[in-house]
Amino acid sequence: MKCIKTSLFAFTALLTISCTSQKENASLKDAYKDDFYIGTALSADQIEQKDQKEDSLIRKEFNAITAENIMKSMYTHPQKDKYDFALSDKFVEYGEKNKMFIHGHTLIWHSQLAPWMEKIADSTEMKAFMKDHITTIVSKYKGRIDSWDVVNEALNEDGTLRQSVFLKTLGEKYLVDAFKLAAKADPKAELYYNDYNIEEPAKRAGAIALIKKIKAEGGKVDGVGIQGHWRLQSPSLEEIEKSILEYSALGVKVAFTELDITVLPNPWDLKGADVNQNFEGSAKMNPYPKALPDSIQNKLAERYASIFKLFLKHKDKISRVTFWGVHDGQSWLNGWPIKGRTNYPLPFDKQLQHKPAYESILQLKESKQ
Ligand code: G3I
Repeated sequence: MKCIKTSLFAFTALLTISCTSQKENASLKDAYKDDFYIGTALSADQIEQKDQKEDSLIRKEFNAITAENIMKSMYTHPQKDKYDFALSDKFVEYGEKNKMFIHGHTLIWHSQLAPWMEKIADSTEMKAFMKDHITTIVSKYKGRIDSWDVVNEALNEDGTLRQSVFLKTLGEKYLVDAFKLAAKADPKAELYYNDYNIEEPAKRAGAIALIKKIKAEGGKVDGVGIQGHWRLQSPSLEEIEKSILEYSALGVKVAFTELDITVLPNPWDLKGADVNQNFEGSAKMNPYPKALPDSIQNKLAERYASIFKLFLKHKDKISRVTFWGVHDGQSWLNGWPIKGRTNYPLPFDKQLQHKPAYESILQLKESKQ
């Protein structure tokens, strides 16, 4: 009897240990390996592997990387005749070493330009800039960077073209030119148009028209990047689904490139990611400075589950889902649209622990296996 009791106890303990370790070994990238890449955006410190715990988490959970900042024009091309590839070289080496899908963010974007670029005022100079900038950067990483955000955020909320320095100097032609230059520099790289709020009807119509036009004029567009800076209540799953279907009907891949979900109040009804918008803070606007209440934590988990359920339904159309940051502590949403708040938009908290959101995303796959 004693013997039976002991072995039963041992069996139960073993079972528990093996279940726990199975769970500990689980990862987003493995769970979704047959569906789409699961990516993250890396800060400069993460690219330099400054924190060993963060680094193990990144390598365990993700199989695609985007540089959150260091490949923006102001960093890679600080002066007209000077490029700085020190950190982007490290970024690409990191991705290669870990066999990750490497995404380049971004070539032509009105924001985070180097000061000298903002002064370009005529079409000849801008044409020369675009040719030199795109050709130099894309050729340098030819065959190594798998896909590029060729043009980022060219649209206004109503679907019209943003009055950027590129539009002002070159007119609409800058769009197709950018895609042609990138394709010429690396014919095999996948080329994306990337923007926020392009799941909203008016802006979506603008993005569809833009992609059609670039293609009609001979540009190669392989994909659309829906950034996915979203909220607990919006956008609706219906609009996200319509977007997946309508973009994919254009013959392009759909990627969710900068996914995060704010849980903080937003009285101005701000949507998306216009980094020029900023507001003064108050305690009311920063309700969870220490911890996220369970009720909101669960809402976040449910929201992520419903979004990933939809992504799985359309996995044949989706190439990649990238979170905008590795953990909550790093998120840009702690500083936008109000500086100094504590937000909780990602599946990992700032101590690098899994949140219920993480479990809910994993569970969608576990329940099917
Ligand atoms: O590097 C400097 C540092 O030297 C300085 O001490 C510090 C003081 O504020 O600023 C640092 O630069 C900041 C940079 O992030 C790196 O941390 C900039 O001020 C800050 O404006 C910048 O914000 C980034 C923002 O793009 C603007 O480029 C966010 O981290 C980044 O998450 C965000 O990402 C964008 C995507 O590229 C495009 N889509 C929207 C998305 C969210 O805004």
